[in-house]
Amino acid sequence: MATKYTLPRGTYDILPEDEYKWQFIIEKFRSIAARFNYYGITTPIFERVEIFERSVGDESDIVQKEMYTFTDRKGRKFALRPEGTAPVVRAYVENGMNASQQISKLFYYGPMFRYDRPQKGRYRQFYQFGIEYIGSDNPYVDAEVIAFGSLFFKELGLQNVRLEINSIGCKDCGREYDKALIDYFKPFYEELCSDCKKRMEINPKRLLDCKNPACKKIASKAPAMLDYLDKQCAGHFWEVQKYLKQMDIPFAVNPRIVRGLDYYNRTAFEFIYDKLGAQKAIAGGGRYDGLVKEFGGNDTPGIGFAGGFERLILTMEEQGCTFGKSSKTDIYCVSLGETANLEIAEIIMQLRKAGFIVAYDADKTSMKAQMKAADKSDAKFALILGENELKNKSVILRELKSGKQSEISQNKLIEYLSK
Ligand code: HAM
Repeated sequence: MATKYTLPRGTYDILPEDEYKWQFIIEKFRSIAARFNYYGITTPIFERVEIFERSVGDESDIVQKEMYTFTDRKGRKFALRPEGTAPVVRAYVENGMNASQQISKLFYYGPMFRYDRPQKGRYRQFYQFGIEYIGSDNPYVDAEVIAFGSLFFKELGLQNVRLEINSIGCKDCGREYDKALIDYFKPFYEELCSDCKKRMEINPKRLLDCKNPACKKIASKAPAMLDYLDKQCAGHFWEVQKYLKQMDIPFAVNPRIVRGLDYYNRTAFEFIYDKLGAQKAIAGGGRYDGLVKEFGGNDTPGIGFAGGFERLILTMEEQGCTFGKSSKTDIYCVSLGETANLEIAEIIMQLRKAGFIVAYDADKTSMKAQMKAADKSDAKFALILGENELKNKSVILRELKSGKQSEISQNKLIEYLSK
């Protein structure tokens, strides 16, 4: 097939046989959001490119290599959003949300875009669900945000999802840690990949995130951030852990979690399902206490996380989780003859108005073809309107599973079916 009529690489269609899975996840997400007292927010799919440069970071992989950017007709530079936190914080500041409420608890879901090498669990257009809690640096809040994710995955029926947490400290302790990292990596400089050589100058913490096996091996013995936390950050992290234990949420401290976005400080965490292989993070998040100020708001702390629908669905499928049911047909309508073909239109409308899911195929005319289709459908009843029924102002209702059928007067039909 000519490639101009195929999907862009790294994207996919959500076909009807899968779409209900997405709706199931969205409904569960909204249900947890309501219970945790979060409100929905939707931001545009594209933003000024500076929004991401200033927050995710000029030197991050996302901004450097993965953003889809374009210039509009007036020469303004935009990016398809690679993530949701920066747009939400932009909206929070721009709409003066901190003036009207001290705390904003926001949830969102939608497509994000990153230009990366596509593979299982990694796409160029992917879908995230996420939450942002803006307005508190209380360690209880960190634990509550994590608890949201934990309950969400639990109620979707997932098992063996591990939670890893870390603290990456604040700017002050970060500086000390950067120095320690540079000292550690310096003797290995020649063995590092070209990206890591740059990272050493720009953001040494990113050295811990490199996927190159040689760099990974060197990084495995690097000093841990936790040993460089100042008293306040260490205390905060300790409190977060105390709350998690109190909420009965199992976790492991992984001092290697650095996260790929620059806005983070203090708590960072990931939900991991190992069987997904290279793309095993189902969700990740952390604290971003400087971001609201960066976007021109008051100095306001925040924390949140986001997860990927695709990785979640892969995990749920792998574990045989159910996704609720796709909508079942209640009634398959069958009509025979010209007059019945016309009158069935009214009956179908009445049934649909009364809330029933009704299927009908006007192109099939023979009894045999229509009944075959009714049997193949997942409908509970076939409703048959033929010459006799027209005369009697009735219909035949046939229960498809048992084959039992009865003649019902048309004006009693809705009442009968509603029983
Ligand atoms: P992130 O770790 O970049 O964080 O992405 C969160 C999740 O999105 C990942 O754990 C993964 O499940 C999914 N994801 C990321 N990239 C892809 C991709 N190319 N294909 C499929 N799934 C992907 C953030 O985006 C932050 N905004 C999270 C956050 C919210 N931090 C604070 N608040």
